Amino acid sequence: VAKLGQPMLRKPARPVPIEEIDRPEFQLFLDDLLETMSAEGGVGLAAPQVFDDRRVFLAAVGPEAEPDGNPSVVIFINPVLVETSSAKRSAWEGCLSFIELLVLVPRHRRIVVDFLDREARPCRIEAAGFAARVVQHEYDHLDGVLTIDRAASTRDIVKASEIDSVEPKRPKARDVDATPSD
Ligand code: NI
Repeated sequence: VAKLGQPMLRKPARPVPIEEIDRPEFQLFLDDLLETMSAEGGVGLAAPQVFDDRRVFLAAVGPEAEPDGNPSVVIFINPVLVETSSAKRSAWEGCLSFIELLVLVPRHRRIVVDFLDREARPCRIEAAGFAARVVQHEYDHLDGVLTIDRAASTRDIVKASEIDSVEPKRPKARDVDATPSD
């Protein structure tokens, strides 16, 4: 996984040509991406984080495979944010590219995103809360944007190991789920 400082993390990704999607090379790339996310224990992973410049990310925001199970992983190809709520909420976010830090990031509470799935079918997902947060985090990766760029203040960037010391002192954090995520 590309770590903070790698130029790839700052480079805007390019759209995937639709005819490329059903090729074995691209399908294998998706399988590798899924495997990497699972191995790293993330809830999301974007292509630039594995040194690939295509507009693809994964996010565990799909329907649960079984009752009380984990959300299924959705593959987003060429995603477009088509709607965002004006209401925002701040919460602490981690990132697999710099797991040492947590950043308090304001995100839209609800979003609608259009994308292609791995069979190149057009899809639309409406997400709220944590799922909306994960999608916005991964979407940002495709534009070379990181959580540290979204912090309202540099004081909202902390060592993950110190989060318990920081949070009680911040009234703002009252409304926050301490949810390390990628
Ligand atoms: Ni990340």
